[in-house]
Amino acid sequence: MPRILIFDSGFGGLSIGRALAQRLPDASLICACDNEAFPYGLKSARSLMERVDQIFSRLVHYTQPDMAVIACNTASTVVLPQLRRRHAFPIVGVVPAVKPAASLSSSKVIALLATPATVEGEYLQQLVTDHAPHCTLITLGSMKLVELAEAKLHGTPPCSRLLRDSLSPLWEHPQSLQLDTVVLGCTHFSWLGEELARQAPRPFHWVDSTLAVTEQVAKLSRGMSPGCRRWSSDARVLLTSPARNARRLARRLNQLGFASLQHL
Ligand code: DGL
Repeated sequence: MPRILIFDSGFGGLSIGRALAQRLPDASLICACDNEAFPYGLKSARSLMERVDQIFSRLVHYTQPDMAVIACNTASTVVLPQLRRRHAFPIVGVVPAVKPAASLSSSKVIALLATPATVEGEYLQQLVTDHAPHCTLITLGSMKLVELAEAKLHGTPPCSRLLRDSLSPLWEHPQSLQLDTVVLGCTHFSWLGEELARQAPRPFHWVDSTLAVTEQVAKLSRGMSPGCRRWSSDARVLLTSPARNARRLARRLNQLGFASLQHL
C-alpha cells in the first residue's frame, strides 16, 4: 500500500486522515499541518500559492510520498493545478461538494459553509456554473468556525453561543426557509458535524467531501506498490512548526488514532 501525504493548514485534514485510516488500514499515512502559516482562510490567492507551493515541496522532500491529498478546500481551489504540474505523483484535491449537494437537494436551495477565501474565490463561481446553475447557493465564509474546530481538536469544546452566532446569517437569508442541504466546504468543519446539526433550526442534508475523497484515493491506491518502508503503517501527524503544548496535543491525537506527533 502507498505512503500518502495528507496536507492541510491545521487539523482539518485529520478528518480526511481518519477516514483514510479506516478505508486503507495498510497505507502509510502522514497528516501534515501547516500550523506555522495557519489559518489559510483569509489569505489572498497569491500568498496561498506561494506558501503552499513552498511548504508542500519541503514536505514532499521529507516524506517521499507515493500520493498526496490536499485536504484543504481553501488551498485546493487555488493551488492544485500548480502542484500537479510540479510533482509527478497523483495529487487528490478536496473541493466543496456542491455537485452532490445540488443533486441531493429537493428545493434546489443549498448553503455552503467554507472559509472566506473559498467563498470569494473564482473556483467556486466555476463550480456553481458547471454543477449547480439551477440552484440558489447561500454562502457563508467563517473563520470563527475554523477556530472553533481547531480548538476542539486541542481539547476545548466549541461554545454553543459562538456556533449559533456564526450560523445565524444562514437562517436570516430571505430563502432560508427553502434551504434543505448544507455543504461543509472546509475540512475543519467535518469535526463540528454534530454541533452544527444541533444548532440548526430543522434537519438538513449535511454534505462534505470526505467519502468522495477517500474513495478516489482508494481507487488510485489499487495496484500501487509500497514505497520504501521508512514509515510504519500507523497514521502520524507532522507539524510545520513545534506545538506549544506538544505533550497534551500528542495525547489528544493519540485518542483520535494518530500514533505520533512530529515537526519538520
Ligand atoms: N481546512 C481548511 C479548508 O478546508 C482551511 C482552514 C484555514 O482557514 O486554515 O478550507
